Amino acid sequence: MAVRYELIKTCRQSGARLGRLHTPHGTIETPVFMPVGTLATVKTMSPEELREMGSGILLSNTYHLFLRPGHEIVREAGGLHRFMNWDGAVLTDSGGFQVFSLSNLRQITEEGVSFRSHLSGKPLFISPEKSVEIQNALGADIIMAFDECPPYPADRNYVRQSMDRTYRWLQRCVAAHQRPETQALFGIVQGGMDKDLRQESVRQVTELDLPGYAVGGLSVGEPKDLMYQVLEDAAPLLPTDKPRYLMGVGSPDALVEGVMRGIDMFDCVLPTRIARNGTTMTSRGRLVVRNARYARDFSPLDPDCDCYTCRHYTRAYLRHLIKADETFGLRLTTYHNLYFLFQLMEQVREAIRRDRLSDFRDSFFESYYGPGE
Ligand code: GUN
Ligand code: ZN
Repeated sequence: MAVRYELIKTCRQSGARLGRLHTPHGTIETPVFMPVGTLATVKTMSPEELREMGSGILLSNTYHLFLRPGHEIVREAGGLHRFMNWDGAVLTDSGGFQVFSLSNLRQITEEGVSFRSHLSGKPLFISPEKSVEIQNALGADIIMAFDECPPYPADRNYVRQSMDRTYRWLQRCVAAHQRPETQALFGIVQGGMDKDLRQESVRQVTELDLPGYAVGGLSVGEPKDLMYQVLEDAAPLLPTDKPRYLMGVGSPDALVEGVMRGIDMFDCVLPTRIARNGTTMTSRGRLVVRNARYARDFSPLDPDCDCYTCRHYTRAYLRHLIKADETFGLRLTTYHNLYFLFQLMEQVREAIRRDRLSDFRDSFFESYYGPGE
């Protein structure tokens, strides 16, 4: 198998898992946060910078690369790793989710999804087979099954039908996959917010012996407590010897809560997206550095952070750059936000090592939700 998960230990205080993900492009310690490089770049960051801040795996998107520049060009370049000069691991999402959030006039049938490109308006079609063909061409270490993520809230009957179809699509993805020795295909659990449907979806997906399993259909507008409940319903039924990936989650509180419920991998555009509009994550909660109150604040963004940005630049300077639309400002806030999440995950792993994750959660939240500034 292309990817092998090694469970190192389980935290005695919380049940959280410490592990290693062995991939053809390096070994990654889990729990891990994966930055999103939708268009074969993590916006504003070089691969060297990502390495330096501690990233071993990036996520990219089938839907976007299919539209532009086209997967054949990436294949000709020698695959995504070579195309973007990234020698770490890569995971590609299947396009199932992006087609629903971005394209117009989409129509789902048993065969696949017809839609119009959000760039050109051109009519296009992605099936489970097409998604796997594109992902085989892109060459990521981990590829995702083509699924449907139902909206929230959604009618229970619809969620069940969609979940059953997602399962049939998973079987078609497995049959279409050409490179199981070098690319690990992960299945995706759906089933909305109802316990019985979620558990049914876990049973379906885990009937197939796959190198990893993802939980999809969360962080779609539901209250956070409901998301945590769904994780508690689903995660214990997943096999302990395979990695578990919670898709689209990246707020600091949800990362910690997800790990507490047995999740090993996360991705989200949140840290990079909010950075580009001047919002930063700090040990004392979110800080909107573009606010006027920081115009004369010559202290670092986060006094507890030792990243490049916090070692060299002030809040006043960052605010000035962002207000003036200077690209260097976007680079500095992006660097800090990603570094902050990598540090958080390192602290989480250390807490699991010491069987102290519940204590860590309490002290982290006390500071993150504390009096603020
Ligand atoms: N990203 C966030 N949620 C999802 C999901 O449910 N499915 C897929 N494929 N990607 C996601
Ligand atoms: Zn910093």
